[in-house]
Amino acid sequence: MDTRIITIDGPAGAGKTTTSKMLSKKLNCVYVDTGALYRGVAYEIQQQNIQWENDEKLAHFLKNLDLQFVLQKGEFVLQSYGQDITGFIRTPEIAMLASASSAKPLVRAALLGIQRGIAKIQDAVFEGRDMGTVVFPDAAFKFFLVADLFVRAQRRFDEMPEAKRNLETVEQEMSRRDTNDYKRKEAPLKPAQDAITIDSSHLTIEEVVQKIIKIIENT
Ligand code: DC
Repeated sequence: MDTRIITIDGPAGAGKTTTSKMLSKKLNCVYVDTGALYRGVAYEIQQQNIQWENDEKLAHFLKNLDLQFVLQKGEFVLQSYGQDITGFIRTPEIAMLASASSAKPLVRAALLGIQRGIAKIQDAVFEGRDMGTVVFPDAAFKFFLVADLFVRAQRRFDEMPEAKRNLETVEQEMSRRDTNDYKRKEAPLKPAQDAITIDSSHLTIEEVVQKIIKIIENT
């Protein structure tokens, strides 16, 4: 690979998004949120009322899928059939459906090309669940961010402006998503053998980014 790829994997709420965005700015490269792709699939499953658990119906749906990342002012926005859907994919329902449907090998295979296509042409920080293990096994640097469930739930809760859920529900949903993501057969959430794990439970995001930058600069 001629481009420099950095992968940040880990469970929801571990600080991946803020860390990856800050890191990409410091390294002057693009940031790619691969969770958005899985959320995009879930969004269209919901919109089109697809029976995704049926492989035949899922395959037909995926054949016609038209998800794309488009660069706007240096940042990727997600388009589906040419429409910007970035604003529609951040709901707890879509998160849960993305977690469930992403266990399907057909879904994962359909999204692989989009991710590798971006990496071919530019340096990038990729955030996800299987970046270091499956999508970019040869990445220059791999990090796995973790944090205690309670801390992660509190962070997610604090991000919700008009709290439609209580903290306990957020924690329960997160725990369910953890189980889905860690336990699935295909590309489960786990650190690559050569990934560096950082526990962000008691660190600020700036401290996490500093740690990562130090590792990159000293390698
Ligand atoms: O990162 P996120 O919370 O937006 O991701 C939503 C779901 O998508 C997550 O629960 C599991 C799935 N996902 C995945 O399977 N592989 C990725 N690389 C990114 C996300």
